[in-house]
This record gives sequence, C-alpha cells and structure tokens, in this order.
Amino acid sequence: ATPDEELNRVLGGGIVPGSLILIGGEPGIGKSTLMLQLGLSLQKAKILYVSGEESEQQIKMRAERLSTKPQGSNENFYMLAETGTKNIFQAIEMVQPNLVIIDSIQTLHSQMLDSSAGSVGQVRQCAGELMKFAKETNTPVFLVGHITKDGMLAGPKVLEHMVDTVLQFEGDRHLAYRILRTTKNRFGSTSEIGIYEMLGNGLREVSNPSEILISQKDGQLSGATIGATIEGNRPLLIEIQSLVSPASYGTPQRTPTGFDQKRLNMLLAVLEKRCGFRMGTQDVFVNMAGGIYVEDPAIDLALCISIISSMEEIPVSDKICFAAEIGLGGELRAVNRIDQRISEAEKLGFQEIYISKCSQKSLDLKKTKITVKSFGKLEELFKDLFG
Ligand code: TYD
Ligand code: MG
Repeated sequence: ATPDEELNRVLGGGIVPGSLILIGGEPGIGKSTLMLQLGLSLQKAKILYVSGEESEQQIKMRAERLSTKPQGSNENFYMLAETGTKNIFQAIEMVQPNLVIIDSIQTLHSQMLDSSAGSVGQVRQCAGELMKFAKETNTPVFLVGHITKDGMLAGPKVLEHMVDTVLQFEGDRHLAYRILRTTKNRFGSTSEIGIYEMLGNGLREVSNPSEILISQKDGQLSGATIGATIEGNRPLLIEIQSLVSPASYGTPQRTPTGFDQKRLNMLLAVLEKRCGFRMGTQDVFVNMAGGIYVEDPAIDLALCISIISSMEEIPVSDKICFAAEIGLGGELRAVNRIDQRISEAEKLGFQEIYISKCSQKSLDLKKTKITVKSFGKLEELFKDLFG
C-alpha cells in the first residue's frame, strides 16, 4: 500500500510486486506530478524516476514545490533524465530500485530498432524490455503514456494488452479536479475511481468527494439538482445543471457534458412521451459538476428533474437529492445499494431523498433521519415536487 489512498483504491489495494502499470492521460493533466509525488512519498523504498521529458533541474524544482515532499531530503529517490533503454537498464543495475517510474514511454527508444521514439514499434519494444525486467526482478514499473482524447495516440493503445493495469488520468484541464480511473486491472476491480484536486503545491487527495461535487448554490437556481450516485464502492453526491431554452433555429441541440448523449436523448423522449413536456422545440444543455463522467444509471432521475426544473423555471431545494433509474415507460426503477446512497445523503445533511418504490421494499428506515420519498412514476413525482 502507498500513502496515497486514492491510488491504492484504483490499484486494488496497492502496488503489486513485478506489475507493469500504465498511466495514461492527456498532456498537462498531471501524470508527472502524480508519479513524482508517489515516488517522493514512498520513503522506505528506493525509487528510480526516469524522465525523457524534463531535465533533472526541472524535476527538482517541481519536487520542491510539492507539499508531499518528505521532511529533509529523500535519500532513496533517484532521478535520471534519459531516453535510451540501454542506459536506463545500466542505471537500474547500479541503483537497484524497488520501483521504477518511466515518464513517458513515448520518449524512450531502444537500440534494437531503427525507428524513432514514439513510433508504435519503439513503444512496444521498450515496454517489452521493461516488462521483462519487471517480471524477472519482481520490481513494479509505472509507465506514463500520453493519450489524446480523440483517437488516442498509437503508443499507449498498443500497450494495453501488455501491461497488468491501465489507469486513466482525466479531467478538464481548466478545472482543478482530476479523476484517476482503472480501465484494466489484473489484480482488482475496474470500477473504482480516485479523485484529486490540483493545487499550487501538487495534487491533493479528495477523500470526501461529495463536498466538492456539489457547488455552493443558494437553492434559488433552477435547473440544478443533486443525484446520489455510486462510483466503484463509493457513494458520490453530484450536482447536475441543466439549461433548457427554446431552440432558435433548425434541429434543437442536445449537449451533455459528463453524461452519455444517447441516454440523454432517451430521457428526453421519456419526458416528452410519458410526461407530456414539449422537448422537441428546446435546446438542452446538461453539465455534471467537477467535470466528472457519470455512468451510474441512478443519476437518471436527478437529470430529469433538473431538465424540468430549468424548463419550468422552478428551483429545487438543495436539501433534496435523487436516486433512481428511469425506464422507457417513465417508471422509476430500483438501483443497487440504495441504503448506502441514503446514508451518504443523510451524512451530508440532506433532508429528503427521492427513490423508486421498488427500492423501498428492501429498506429498513427505522433509524434514518432523512425523509425517504418513493414513487412509481415520474409523473407522480413531478406532481409532488412541482405541484
Ligand atoms: P504535469 O504533471 O506536468 O502533467 P503531465 O505530466 O500529465 O503532462 O502537470 C501539468 C500541469 O499541472 C501544469 O499545467 C501545471 C499544473 N501544476 C499545478 O497546478 N500545481 C503543481 O503543483 C504542479 C506540479 C503542476
Ligand atoms: Mg509529464
């Protein structure tokens, strides 16, 4: 286990000896920062941080800014600005590290091939050499890989089947929050996420994410609602904002950020067909707070309420949250682990949570202080909420 709880969570508990871990993400998202912090925080282990992108001075300067830097100097942290695998292995031989970090795999080149660094052949060859080293010596190796949002660079994609674990570091570069997601893990689940905040002195672990994902709204803003979701094993209360306005010309726009476009279209069709709202003439913009991408279907209900709240310009109290999937018939469907969602909402001071009738059957509500309201159909819920 590392001192970083968020990283442990996505890795399935910690770093497995001899494993090869790819950490991908867009340039500038914070991969180098994360790896540097990891290396500096592991004070008992010998770390070799190999950078093909920055000079030793640059890395040192950055390290000095980080708040995770240990008191005094870390004698066990070695860095090397190098791109040739032959020299890297020589350094490894000399240092005998317990953990190797390569930043980034696209900058490495092996003499075994003539092609230039970053080509598919080189990336694969260098990763292959590092994998052999990891397995033979039982030393874990982190590979940083740059990935662009559209299409993904050739490099990391070809690596995915070679490595044991693939972590994706994502988030809006203009926002402070960063999500670390597992997309492949031979040693654990792939549904966990880690959340960080990028500050002036490095990445901070966000251990209570609900607080940051709910903005400080004053309860008077229409179109803002809160959904009680679960990511991995963690309940997360997330704020959704919708803006519905008459389409000025042509095809109305449906623009979700942090949510699936097709699912949004489906929910809009349900609102139109089952609840009688005229969505066809409206532009609909939907935004998940903090730049997070939500896959949990339990967000459906909060999203529908948020859309209607904006369209009708009726604000929803910020003391209410929602957790239910919406079916094609406009029915509220049960979602998993409803008790966990309810207790998280209660913990954060919500007064009411709206759920599906089907969820309520399995609940023991004797001890809960929060009011749990359950409904079978969206229409009934709208009547209760908006009158
Ligand atoms: P970096 O780790 O270099 O990204 P990557 O390796 O994924 O390309 O991080 C780059 C951004 O993070 C850069 O825009 C500056 C910002 N940053 C901070 O805001 N605070 C910090 O303490 C550090 C080190 C970086
Ligand atoms: Mg970098």
